[in-house]
Amino acid sequence: MRAYKAKSVERIELPDREARERHLHEAGYNVFNLDAEAVFVDLLTDSGTGAMSDEQWAAIHRGDESYAGSESFQNLEAAIEDVMGFSRIVPAHQGRGAENVLYGALVSEGEYVPNNTHFDTTRAHIVNAGGEPVDCPIESDPGDPFQGNLDTEAVRELANEVGAERIPAVVVTITNNSLAGQPVSIANLREARAVADELDARLVIDACRFAENAYFVAQREAEFDGESVASIAREQLSMADAIVMSGKKDGLANVGGFVGVRENDDEFYEQARQRGILFEGFSTYGGMAGRDLEAMAVGLREAVERPYIESRVEQVAELGTLLQEVSVPIRTPTGGHAVYVDAGEFLPSIPREEFPGQALVCALYEEGGVRAVELGELAFPGEDRAQLVRLCLPRRTYFRDHLEHVAETFATVADRREELPGYEIVDEPAMAELRHFSAELRPL
Ligand code: F0G
Repeated sequence: MRAYKAKSVERIELPDREARERHLHEAGYNVFNLDAEAVFVDLLTDSGTGAMSDEQWAAIHRGDESYAGSESFQNLEAAIEDVMGFSRIVPAHQGRGAENVLYGALVSEGEYVPNNTHFDTTRAHIVNAGGEPVDCPIESDPGDPFQGNLDTEAVRELANEVGAERIPAVVVTITNNSLAGQPVSIANLREARAVADELDARLVIDACRFAENAYFVAQREAEFDGESVASIAREQLSMADAIVMSGKKDGLANVGGFVGVRENDDEFYEQARQRGILFEGFSTYGGMAGRDLEAMAVGLREAVERPYIESRVEQVAELGTLLQEVSVPIRTPTGGHAVYVDAGEFLPSIPREEFPGQALVCALYEEGGVRAVELGELAFPGEDRAQLVRLCLPRRTYFRDHLEHVAETFATVADRREELPGYEIVDEPAMAELRHFSAELRPL
């Protein structure tokens, strides 16, 4: 049951089929190039696209736009301390701004940074700081409760290989976005803490989806049975020396982010603060307007309220169930923010080189005005990985009939699957890592 009702709404429209075909053609068969107006159900991302609460909108009117010492910043500090247990923060305009502040202060040329799986902006910022990002996910089977966990043995092996002194930080991303949004257990975070101590490295938590992770812990980790999501949220972050956050996810805001640092880590905090001033803005706003600070302060508190987080994560599971009912192969159990579809299995006649994930993404738009994102050969060229399509639900935004529309669209696509074309790239940017954002394709 949704723990909210609509108070303000936005009209959406499904363009007719001819218009959808034209829009897709004009977008170069890349849905990042579509006008949002031409999209009916937008499952591209959960980042900054959710609905804010009436309390957040009310707080926005109280935003203190002072350059220095803004009261809104104090409200945000208090919320972060209460909800996440960090009292020293460096604000930033969004998650990747915070990553630039943090990893620029933490990582030097020739160092290695292990992570359960690096999100693409994390990877890029570590490379930008001269470091080498290393993915250390555990091996898991479908159905396992904590498929997002860090392989701490792999971190030890890396340390043996390169030398512990070249590992400044161990990172754990909760939930593991690049690994189907799967959660990380508190037991695993304790192991991560232990390995960081062994290596004399900092433990960093990418806390973008910390509330979703805490909900999974409440559901699946026996030790925490019956504990509140709010207390689990704090417990999991208590393990970290630093956190890096995008307020666009579990901050329930449209923009914003921050780095959190421990009270006794003076030198590091000062370094991060100076980088924040240089790249983001003075240390009491960090690229956000005062009203954005207020929206995030309220959003963080709402994110760990049980009725909210339960309806959030269960809505993602509901989409998964509706898709399974029409025989769509998905990653199970569903993650916290998105359903991941195995496009290679759904469209077996399209070979990897012809982008089966993108073929599915295009068909979903053509058939139902649904926008999803490819995470396969187009996004990760040359990597021998599963051809996935991510259906990411914005928070508090869509209703059951939108989810049913998505499932019906899949059923229609399934009926036509033999006719669907593969694709080839006709134009792509120089940087291969970013090609899926702007490449243009054509059907074969
Ligand atoms: N870390 C993780 C785990 C993320 O998922 C993201 C963004 C970031 C950092 C960067 O934050 O966008 O505020 O700069 N993920 C979005 C997504 C873009 O669609 O998965 P940001």
